[in-house]
Amino acid sequence: MYKIMVVFGTRPEAIKVAPVIRTLLEEPLFDLVTVATAQHRYMLDQVLKIFDIVPDVDLDMLTPRQTLGGMTEHILTALGRLLPSSRPDLVLVQGDTTTAFAASLAAYYHRIPVAHLEAGLRTGDIWSPYPEEANRRLIACLSALHLAPTPASAANLLAETVPARSVVVTGNTVIDALRWAVTSTGDYGDPALDGLGDHTGPVLLVTAHRRESWGPPLRRVGTALAELAAAEPELRIVIPLHRNPVVREALLPPLGEHANITVVEPLDYAGFCQLMNRCDVILTDSGGVQEEGPSLGKPVLVMRDTTERPEGVAAGTTRLVGTDPTVIVPEVRSLLHDRAAYQRMAGAINPYGDGLAAGRVAAALAHFLGAGPPVESFVPGRSAAVPPPGTVPGHRLPDPVGSGHGGSGHVGSGHRASDHRVPVASE
Ligand code: UD1
Ligand code: UDP
Repeated sequence: MYKIMVVFGTRPEAIKVAPVIRTLLEEPLFDLVTVATAQHRYMLDQVLKIFDIVPDVDLDMLTPRQTLGGMTEHILTALGRLLPSSRPDLVLVQGDTTTAFAASLAAYYHRIPVAHLEAGLRTGDIWSPYPEEANRRLIACLSALHLAPTPASAANLLAETVPARSVVVTGNTVIDALRWAVTSTGDYGDPALDGLGDHTGPVLLVTAHRRESWGPPLRRVGTALAELAAAEPELRIVIPLHRNPVVREALLPPLGEHANITVVEPLDYAGFCQLMNRCDVILTDSGGVQEEGPSLGKPVLVMRDTTERPEGVAAGTTRLVGTDPTVIVPEVRSLLHDRAAYQRMAGAINPYGDGLAAGRVAAALAHFLGAGPPVESFVPGRSAAVPPPGTVPGHRLPDPVGSGHGGSGHVGSGHRASDHRVPVASE
């Protein structure tokens, strides 16, 4: 048996490791230890609940307005205590957060090999996204096994002289999670969105949170949304808002009072996937949503100047629009009114995964540890058929907790633009 420690801390990490955790739990070869740093709390717990995951260790580290240095120090100290006693054979980290970077550094200090899930994404600019581009480069230096989601991300690693034998193209596990979540038949998980089914006009889904956009860029996004709401009365703009008070303080004031803007708390993953399915256009700076939107055939306008996910741009389903209202507003309006422009962006493509990534990750870990054959790479468009909805290889994910959203399965209280509230406490 091989002991694998999986460390995660934020919402997107949890979504992307959830299918891997469920797969490893069912594989007798592995003794799994799950560690939540809880860099996020509310947004992490939403994911853990819906995927029915209870971490073995919860560092419960979130503090309001936490700093990069403070988080790194906390994780290094806490894992510095945990790793010598737990002594895993391998530590698995995901993506490019402070949790992923600090956990990989802690493992390295204890001479424990690191496997990096979602390895090789690059913009080429260490300030964009900040600090994620630096984090993912640093993690690559510390990793022994690089689990690249796409051939392009694997090529980035090889260009940095990472040995080819340590790189496996797995597909992105977010597609495994997405394929499971869209099978939930529930509502969006917030009463403020209950009327969305009867709304006959278009829906614009908006998420924003990036650190490099804090302050003026996020204020410009708020202005762009207010302009769109005024110019397009039939349009319903829905903003599931990140819990970060810095984001709320910048984005909410410029929104003004518009009956067709609805601001809600973060939705749980099943509810958010329902909303992605329902919406017509997505406006976002999120990494994960850039992968999910194209898979659902939704045009994704990316409020950033760079992207580490060029596959969607190349396929024409994602487009960089930055944070300038004079670009955002006409881009959205063009998609709302120009059918041909919409159709050009709306073709469903799936360059990021086939729903079988978690199985490849488990097989790659086994091979790395000397307990299995090499893994056949994910090749976009040429891989095995996608399994039926609700399944991922080798196991079945639990039914979405609260799917149906009729009971206590969802969190968050909806409120309209006229009732903006900036929470004072973080959780
Ligand atoms: C983090 C990651 C980013 C990732 C994003 C996903 C880093 C440096 N950043 O950014 O890569 O894209 O998560 O959302 O690792 N907060 C709450 N409750 C929550 C979550 C956050 O109150 O559940 C508030 C807290 O005040 C916290 C602040 O948001 O201090 C910022 O959280 P943090 O994890 O530092 O950064 P994010 O911007 O969320
Ligand atoms: N998401 C969610 N609820 C929301 C908004 C987003 O579950 O209200 C999911 C989304 O589907 C995606 C992930 O959260 O899988 C993206 O998280 P985020 O944008 O915070 O981080 P990033 O991907 O930019 O690192």
